This record gives sequence, C-alpha cells and structure tokens, in this order.
Amino acid sequence: MRSLISSADLSKEEVLTIYDLFVSLKKGSSYPRLDGDVALLFFEPSTRTRISFEKAAKLLGLRTYTVSSEGSSLVKGESFFDTLKTLEALDFRSVVFRVPFVLFPYESLTKEVSLSLINGGDGTHQHPTQGLIDLFTLLEAYGSLEGLKVLYVGDIAHSRVFRSGLPLLKTFGAEVSVCGPLSLIPSDVKALGVSEIFTHIEEAIHWADAVIWLRLQKERQKEKLIPSERSYFQKFGLTKDRYSKLRGYFLHPGPVNREVDIEGDLIYSEKSLIQQQVRNGLFVRMAVFVWCLEGSPRR
Ligand code: CP
Repeated sequence: MRSLISSADLSKEEVLTIYDLFVSLKKGSSYPRLDGDVALLFFEPSTRTRISFEKAAKLLGLRTYTVSSEGSSLVKGESFFDTLKTLEALDFRSVVFRVPFVLFPYESLTKEVSLSLINGGDGTHQHPTQGLIDLFTLLEAYGSLEGLKVLYVGDIAHSRVFRSGLPLLKTFGAEVSVCGPLSLIPSDVKALGVSEIFTHIEEAIHWADAVIWLRLQKERQKEKLIPSERSYFQKFGLTKDRYSKLRGYFLHPGPVNREVDIEGDLIYSEKSLIQQQVRNGLFVRMAVFVWCLEGSPRR
C-alpha cells in the first residue's frame, strides 16, 4: 500500500508507471476493480479535485464517504492525526484529503496509520495529482518535455500547484521559469531549480513554449501584496494581445479568476488546455488509486 503526499517523493520510474496506468485507463473501456472504502476529507473548498477523486474511486469499484470540515470533529478540536486513526479503526483503505494547513513533516504520519494517504492539496505545500495532471497534459500536447521552456505566471508564493509541478517538469527535462510581481515570488525559487525570474510578462511570453497561468490566491494573502486586481490583470493577466503572441499552449489549474488571471473569452480558446487538464484529472486520479492500492490487502 502506497501514499502520495508530495510529487517530490516520486522517482521518474514511479511517475512513468503512473503515466502508463493513466494512458491505459484513458484508452480503456473497462477498468480494474479495487473494492474497499475511501474517505474524502475536504476541509477546503474544491470542485474538480473532489468530484474527480469521487468519480475515479467509483469507476474502480471503491465506495466513497465525503466529510467536510463543518461536519467533522476537527471543529471540536480533534487533531488531523486522530481523525486518520479513527478512519483506520473503521477499516478504510484510503483517505484523500484537502486541508488548509501544510502537512509537514509527514513521513512519520504515513508510518503510523495503516491507510493509503493521498494529498488533494495541503495549504501552500503540495497538490501532487495536479502536478501530474499538468505534466501529463504537457506530454500529450508536446510529445516530450526535453528542453521545453515552461513558464508559471502569477501567484507563485502561495501556489502548491507550482511546488508540485516544478520537480516533475524538471525531472522530464523541461526548463522552468516564473513571472509575476516580486511580492508574489518567494526568494528561494532559484534554489528550487527555476531558471529565470521575469517581472515583464511580454519578455516572459517571448521566452516560453508553454505557459501555466496560476490563480491569484486572494484567500491566502494576509496582507495586500498587489495594488489592485485590475492592475495585476493589466501587468500579468492573459489578454487577447498576449494570447496572439503565445507560440504554444497555455494551462490553468482552475478555478480561474476571470478578468484577473485570464480574460474570460480566452478560457476555452484554441490554445487553451484547461478542459484537457480537467478531463485528465479523472484518469490521473484513477491511476493514482490503482498505483496506491493494487496488490495491498483489501479491508
Ligand atoms: N485545481 C484544483 O485543485 O481545483 P479545485 O480547487 O476546484 O479542486
């Protein structure tokens, strides 16, 4: 039984195993049967992650039980660890969680509970299945990432999508740069393996083969880090003029802030891979369930 907390823990061989599962599940008309109970603990809002994990589990024959923060004993002060121990005692096989806090360190957690733990987003730390979605979507669109110049734009500081995608894209040979206001770019990005830090979007777009626009995470900004959403869009958003200069595709993990991250008319345009990302999310999450659970004892 495996867990997936951080994309940085995956070797290239493991990612390729998940990719092969993803490809065969996406092509397939019948799916493997896993059986067992999966708890979906969603303590932060989510549409695509929650529903695609739920659908993925059901297509594989797993039974799902969803718990939200308001309905859980966390509000009465129970710890996350004790919540997991409760689900272990109830014979759950896997727990998919989305939480507002950073789960770090987590190595002891995966040893102390007999559950397959799958991270659906923890604070600003990790969202490994989104990282896999972005990697696999780019592999489908470009064939190979070797030497591909991938640019992340926007709220790098609060982005678990960036932190999850970066190690995966680099493992597959991409060159990764960032662009945004300096107030939203952490000082350690170069140490993480980023090539260039751009503060002018036109220059960054000229550099990039593919661009991942990120969501401006208003809910995570404790202080005012940009003058206004309007000025942010003018300086860093995807406008029609910038769209015409893109030489490749653009992605966005969703949900999109219309007219802040991206001009509304462009979200489902020809150069957009947003719908492919959402669709791939289902098969990535099925592949991750199979990778985590196949061969483990049924409970
Ligand atoms: N990309 C993503 O995590 O979307 P949701 O917040 O809707 O799950």
